Parts: sequence; structure tokens; C-alpha cells
Amino acid sequence: MDRIKITVVPGDGIGPDIVEVALQVLDKLDVGLDYEMAVAGQTALDQGLDLIPEQTLAALAANRAALKGPITTPIGKGFSSVNVSLRRRFDLFANVRPALSMPGVQSRYQDVDLIIVRENMEGIYSGQGQSLSADGERAELTSVVTRSESARVLRYAYEMARRQGRRKVTVVHKANIMKSTSGLFLDVARSVSRDYPELVHEELIIDNCAMQLVMNPNRFDVIVTTNLFGDILSDLCAGLVGGLGLAPGANIGEDKGIFEAVHGSAPDIAGRNLANPTALLLAAAMMLDYLERQEAAERLRAAIRQVIGAGHELTPDLGGSGTTSGYAAALLRAL
Ligand SMILES: NC(=O)c1ccc[n+]([C@@H]2O[C@H](COP(=O)([O-])OP(=O)(O)OC[C@H]3O[C@@H](n4cnc5c(N)ncnc54)[C@H](O)[C@@H]3O)[C@@H](O)[C@H]2O)c1
Repeated sequence: MDRIKITVVPGDGIGPDIVEVALQVLDKLDVGLDYEMAVAGQTALDQGLDLIPEQTLAALAANRAALKGPITTPIGKGFSSVNVSLRRRFDLFANVRPALSMPGVQSRYQDVDLIIVRENMEGIYSGQGQSLSADGERAELTSVVTRSESARVLRYAYEMARRQGRRKVTVVHKANIMKSTSGLFLDVARSVSRDYPELVHEELIIDNCAMQLVMNPNRFDVIVTTNLFGDILSDLCAGLVGGLGLAPGANIGEDKGIFEAVHGSAPDIAGRNLANPTALLLAAAMMLDYLERQEAAERLRAAIRQVIGAGHELTPDLGGSGTTSGYAAALLRAL
């Protein structure tokens, strides 16, 4: 088996704890991965380095895949988001966020299996053109949506749906009000969908979609939407299947992927051995799929299902009284 070098960014808050578990698990799976460790975010600043040091950018540029812990972004002030910068820098245009029910987890629904594909480069979330007037009375933010970026992410979503044998793609928008930006995205979606006649093409307005996700998530299969809507809906979907501790994500570009949990650095539980590493582990499984190590990815997912299904080592976010290290030990035994 060829060895593959991946970049590993431990991140901030709970990041280093859950990344350590992920590396132990990847070592146990013995899939020929080597790690190039790199820092970013608050951790880099604390070491007297740049927010995203050159060495980190070089590692991310050189390696096909990266496993990344969450990175803190201060609200309303301070540095801009490392995550947004990395997505833009490496042209990671599609953010893939599955929400899959896990046996043994107390959650609102037991049979959710959907994937959100979120446009990752533009729209209001990208934070372009932000300003606040000198008197603090007026704030501005620009939303730009382009035909080419919309087409790229929509094509990715439809191709993924086809590859995975899914049946339906729901395009989520607000084109009734945001006729320019959301309208353009919807227009491109209609034209891309014509190349996939075997997939049901559905259109839903974001507010209606949010309500239907809460009432009846099983009606959804693949959802594709613009950046901010995807950001919000993917946390909602994490809540449907048991919370952020279970929600993985992948930032996919033309020749590179950065794999991470949907959740953030969870400062309220950092350093307390309480973080649930499952989201990052499921992201690691997505990375293994991406690196054509599907058999190992499946073994990892099966071991996670086994440990969570047994219910002995659940972390507090899943209603248990277990710890990060206890869960990790059980998982390593299961593997
Ligand atoms: N991709 C990323 O790096 C990313 C994503 C989201 C937020 N953030 C950043 O993270 C920081 C904190 O954000 P936040 O508090 O809004 O969201 P958060 O996701 O860090 O935490 C929200 C809640 O969920 C809990 N939680 C999250 N992950 C958990 C896990 N693995 N196990 C158990 N509980 C978990 C936290 O304890 C908290 O109560 C902010 O600076 C934010 O910008 C980073």
C-alpha cells in the first residue's frame, strides 16, 4: 500500500484532544498514513506565529488531505476566520455535511440519512464588503453569488448524489425575496438538474425547509444550498441526530480536501476530557473514503456504531457520564 502524507492541524479548545484520539485511531487502522503536524489560529498566535503560518500553508498545499481540529474565531472583533481563509485559499468549493442517525443515541429521530452540500466560497457568509460607519449607526455587508461557483457546487452535489445512488436533491433558496443572489443559484440549479434525470429535483424556500427538517427529516436526501443557509441548516441537522458531537464535514476542492467536525472549539468544555471525538472521527472516515481507503473507513464507522451502540462510554453531550479518553480506549479495543 502506498503511504500518504496528510496535514494535521490540532486547532484550538477541544481540538488537540479530539485530534489526538483521531490519530490513535488512524494508527490503529494501519492505513499507511504519515502526518505533517501544523498549527493555526489562536494556538499559532500563542506560540508567537502568524494566524496561519507559512509552514502550515505549505503543508496544506503539499498534501492532498488534511484533518483539522476546530479553530476559534472571536465574535464581532479580532482576526477574521481561519476556516473561511483556508476554504478560499485552497479553493475548497463544496462543504459536505452528512447527518446520519446513530443507533443507541437518544435523539429526536432514529432514521435520518441526509447530506447537506453547502456552497463554501461566496454569498453573504464570506464576509465580503463589511463595514460599520464611523458613528456606529450603519453596517454593511456584500453578498456576491456567481454562475460559475454555483454551477461548480451544484454539479458536485448532483454528481455525489448519482455516485451514492441517492434519489432526490433538494435545492434550498430564498429566491422569492433575494431574487438576485438566491435567484441566480436557483436558475443554475434548474439547468444542472436536467443532466440528472434519474434524480428527483426539488426546490424549497429556506424557512419552509427549516420547518420541514424539524417535522419530517426523512423526506430529505441530498440538500444543496448557498453558504449561510448551509451553515445554519447543518447545525440544525446535527441536532436532529443527537448533536454537534456527531456531525462531520468535508471541505472539498478540485484536488484537495480538508476534513473537520461541524462543531467549533467548544471553549466551555476545553481541557476537561469531556469532548466527544465522534464528529472528527466520522470526518476522518470521510477522509479515508476520499483517499480510497474505503474498507478502513467502513471499519472505523462500524467500530463507532459498536461503541456508541453499547452505550457504556458516552460523553455528556450524548447523555452519558463518560470521558474522551474512556471513549477512545473503547474504540481502540473495538478496532
Ligand atoms: N470549523 C471550525 O473550526 C469552527 C466551526 C464552528 C465554530 N468555530 C469556532 O468555535 C468557537 C466556539 O463556537 P461555539 O461555542 O459557537 O460552538 P461550538 O460548536 O464550539 O460549541 C457549541 C456547543 O456544543 C458543544 N460541543 C461542540 N462540540 C462538542 C463535542 N465534540 N463534544 C461535546 N460537546 C460539544 C459545546 O460544548 C457547546 O456547548 C468560536 O470561536 C467559533 O467561531 C469553529
